[in-house]
Amino acid sequence: MSDKITVNYFKEAKVTGTKITILTAYDYPTAKLLDEAGIDSILIGDSLGMVVLGYEDTTKVTMEDMIHHMKAVARGTKRAMLIGDMPFLSYHTGKYESVRNGGRLVSEGGCNAVKLEGGRAIIEDIKAIINAGIPVMGHLGYTPQSVNIFGGHKAQGKTYEAAAKMYEDALLLQEAGVFSLVLECVPRILASFISKRLDIPVIGIGSGNGCDGQVLVTPDMLGLFRSFTPKHSRVFVEMGKAYNEAAIRYIEEVKSGVFPALENTFKIDEDIISRLEKAQISK
Ligand code: KIV
Repeated sequence: MSDKITVNYFKEAKVTGTKITILTAYDYPTAKLLDEAGIDSILIGDSLGMVVLGYEDTTKVTMEDMIHHMKAVARGTKRAMLIGDMPFLSYHTGKYESVRNGGRLVSEGGCNAVKLEGGRAIIEDIKAIINAGIPVMGHLGYTPQSVNIFGGHKAQGKTYEAAAKMYEDALLLQEAGVFSLVLECVPRILASFISKRLDIPVIGIGSGNGCDGQVLVTPDMLGLFRSFTPKHSRVFVEMGKAYNEAAIRYIEEVKSGVFPALENTFKIDEDIISRLEKAQISK
């Protein structure tokens, strides 16, 4: 497949109207499979906390968690652009910390860009990170790190005031220099309205097909995260069911002695066993 995807691909895609595809990954084999399938970008999302680490929400994810998983994804990726989520509180305590943590995701984790949740309140942090040479993706609408403010996983921007604030925030983020913007759980028509008015590509999740691209959480689209399936997601292949059936078959075949079969074993000269039987080997 063609060259490494960069921010320039995002710019061109907006101009040509080519839809951008993004999926999340948190490990080497998944990253390799997605990259080989031709995905444009892999997001090492802090959804890691829920779909891999088993936390209730994303607020428990640390910089160390992110870097650990990012490194594995980076080892499995050749072409896709890697975008790393900045976890909760890694960019809320001042510009110095924001740049330092964003920088660590690039230099230690190996990602090509970072994503931050929020609008006007974090504009200065975003500018400082971009000034350090790190491309930034914005994230508005339902921003999971603020779950305790929203009081649950809910669509955002449904009143005039909320919709206007979201549009203003999108314009502010664009002005600050973000190369792309995620809109999560935003009503379809509002997401289309914002996408059409921005010069940067808008990536939707739960925001309809009027956006310039889509992102999904891979374990959701593979049926691997079974606590709940978000309304906005679609199970493209039932891998969760396949895992479960494989484990049931494995248990049955081990217990009945069907597995391992002869072809799963290694040979040895039988003479060696006869010699062992005859030898007086003691402890
Ligand atoms: O963490 C994540 O996977 C995300 C997506 C839901 C966009 O931020």
